[in-house]
Amino acid sequence: MFGARCVLRALRSCSSAPCPRHKPSAKLSVRDALGAQNASGQRVKVQGWIRSVRSQKEVLFLHVNDGSSLESLQVVADSSFDSRELAFGSSVEVQGQLVKSLSKRQNVELKAEKIEVVGNCDAKDSGFVHIHTPVITSNDCEGAGELFQVKPSSKIKVPEENFFNVPVFLTVSGQLHLEVMSGAFTQVFTFGPTFRAENSQSRRHLAEFYMVEAEISFLESLQDLMQVMEGLFKTTTMTVLSNCPEDVELCHKFIAPGQKDRLEHMLKNNFLIISYTEAVEILKQASQNFTFTPEWGADLHTEHEKYLVKHCGDIPVFVINYPLALKPFYMRDNEDSPQHTVAAVDLLVPGVGELFGGSLREERYHFLEQRLARSGLTEAYQWYLDLRQFGSVPHGGFGMGFERYLQCILGIDNIKDVIPFPRFTHSCLL
Ligand code: 4AD
Ligand code: MG
Repeated sequence: MFGARCVLRALRSCSSAPCPRHKPSAKLSVRDALGAQNASGQRVKVQGWIRSVRSQKEVLFLHVNDGSSLESLQVVADSSFDSRELAFGSSVEVQGQLVKSLSKRQNVELKAEKIEVVGNCDAKDSGFVHIHTPVITSNDCEGAGELFQVKPSSKIKVPEENFFNVPVFLTVSGQLHLEVMSGAFTQVFTFGPTFRAENSQSRRHLAEFYMVEAEISFLESLQDLMQVMEGLFKTTTMTVLSNCPEDVELCHKFIAPGQKDRLEHMLKNNFLIISYTEAVEILKQASQNFTFTPEWGADLHTEHEKYLVKHCGDIPVFVINYPLALKPFYMRDNEDSPQHTVAAVDLLVPGVGELFGGSLREERYHFLEQRLARSGLTEAYQWYLDLRQFGSVPHGGFGMGFERYLQCILGIDNIKDVIPFPRFTHSCLL
């Protein structure tokens, strides 16, 4: 799909730098290398991803894994090999001699003669692990009740309500599953279809759309989260522009003249930040008449979002700290008063309005327990509450609608024009 790979690559923070291929000599998997009986100088080639790097004065230790074994192969290299590219997450091809290890931790190690970086991984912010979150789920992450229920067809013998023992739905977001996995891998992301039974035929709503979502453990501020969001938008867009310039140009030339400059304007400038309260003030002072009168405590509508972006000079703008009552149970309480808000953040972009939605998560057991109780969700989300009982950490994340992203960079007005088979109310062709 156009641009999808660029999103994935940006999230992994890896830019692929293809290397010239050599004819494989004795290519071994990590598992076979670790199990080699005769490790007295056999020349081998091993390919995999760097799991750790330890640099000493004269020697460099890498642990390389290709998924064939739980254990990694230790690669020992001369310190002259040391480079920024040999970082956690980079994929490498190592040639050298398999020798007996002096360490008790492993039998063999690979004495490197040549190390090629196949795809580097920016050490600054690498390490987002790709998680395949389920499409069928029993929870409603956003709590908005916009769910499509999944049931077996009547031909199946198991009574429909008993197939999974509980009612199940198509996912509206992989966030809650990502929160589980971020407890194991710290930084995780998913990219997959999401479904919303929203009764809308608007230019920015689909019943089935793709979302890229990220979740980050040990993240304590919206500032840090917004940095990742802005970085994702800018890195992905630069990658799309340099990898598929003709496709982008075609859209810009025939569909959205002037979009090239608008996009450059977005990339060149730092995104702005305003609070929800400030946003409402700006809207109240606007000379424009809105269909929905802006007031504190009410949702921002597309007309409001578009106005705010224009007001901010057509630069994407983060709106933060929304009223608690407007947002789902998982968002972190700001404990402010009299206007009670949560640490939520939406990124609004020109032409589209909301492109990203994210927040800090409520990691404090008692706060979350009370929120769940108030919404009558305690039983259904006991497993989620339990995550706060065993090694809970501050964390946060976001989701970006992929079709809206394409609308934004290509300048396409209607979301149904960026997806080959759009699904929306009263329409599911093919
Ligand atoms: O703001 P939303 O609902 O946030 C979540 O689902 C969070 N659980 C994400 C997270 O924190 N992991 O949705 C995220 C984004 C929106 O900003 C929008 O771009 C897109 O998903 N989106 C839609 N795109 C097309 N059609 C729809 N009906 C959409 N609903 C949301
Ligand atoms: Mg949202």
